[in-house]
Amino acid sequence: MTGDPTTTPSGTEARPNVARMYDYYLGGCHNFAADRAAAEQILTIFPDTGVAAQTNRAFLRRAVRYAAEQGVRQFLDIGAGLPTQGNVHEIVRPVAPGSRVVYVDNDEVAVAYARRLLPVDGRTVVVRGDLRRPDELLADPQVRANIDFTEPVALLLVAVLHFVPDSDNPYAAVARLRDATAPGSMLALSHLTMDGAPPVPTQQGREVYRRSSAPLVPRTHAAAARFFDGYDLLEPGLVWLADWRPDGEPHSAVSHGYGGLGVRR
Ligand SMILES: C[S@@+](CC[C@H](N)C(=O)[O-])C[C@H]1O[C@@H](n2cnc3c(N)ncnc32)[C@H](O)[C@@H]1O
Repeated sequence: MTGDPTTTPSGTEARPNVARMYDYYLGGCHNFAADRAAAEQILTIFPDTGVAAQTNRAFLRRAVRYAAEQGVRQFLDIGAGLPTQGNVHEIVRPVAPGSRVVYVDNDEVAVAYARRLLPVDGRTVVVRGDLRRPDELLADPQVRANIDFTEPVALLLVAVLHFVPDSDNPYAAVARLRDATAPGSMLALSHLTMDGAPPVPTQQGREVYRRSSAPLVPRTHAAAARFFDGYDLLEPGLVWLADWRPDGEPHSAVSHGYGGLGVRR
């Protein structure tokens, strides 16, 4: 890792970590040798993973900007990852400067770096929490202090649910979060799929992640769409990430996932 080693929690370096592998795909420097080695294996199997990660970030930017433009002023970003270019608060503040952003991740390194690098402005908070334990997350004092659940919230589950296997009840977790939010709240979600991908590399990729901090659980379009139960999916629906309301920003795009934005009924 090329960052300040004093912020590096001990004992976390040996095992590839999904947050830091993603940081490596994005060209970040908050990763260790084990993360880079595993990420390089993935890049050998799927050479366009770096571009696909950028496509995912571009979807996040468009979805968050859309929610802010629609008047949402609270953002709960679960599985937020390590700070990178175009963080959620940086996207929403030009549209709505007073917006509150709560970043949540279950990885201690992601949380440590986010706390160090994100602004201390009273409207940006970083919480260590786990999507698989929504009740704990909703009860967290910092979450409660910063999110008014009687007002619309944009719930961001971007590139995180494909690290939660069905055995950990991801559908129930998303439903619990949905039920905690007011009507008019939004869900922005992106999800890795292997729809249309050849089976052998898919298996090889899953094998790399099996040795990491979280398993890789690609889902079909139908399985990803189920997360929007209780939401009205906005046009164009749950689509390839690059096809979700493209804004003409010049970038190369490769989608290995679906993205969509729904409004809670
Ligand atoms: C691929 S990164 C996505 C980061 C960011 N949302 C984005 O799309 O650019 C996935 C993040 O989800 C986090 N994560 C994985 N499982 C999680 C869980 N059960 N609860 C909270 N965060 C989780 C990882 O630590 C990692 O930072």
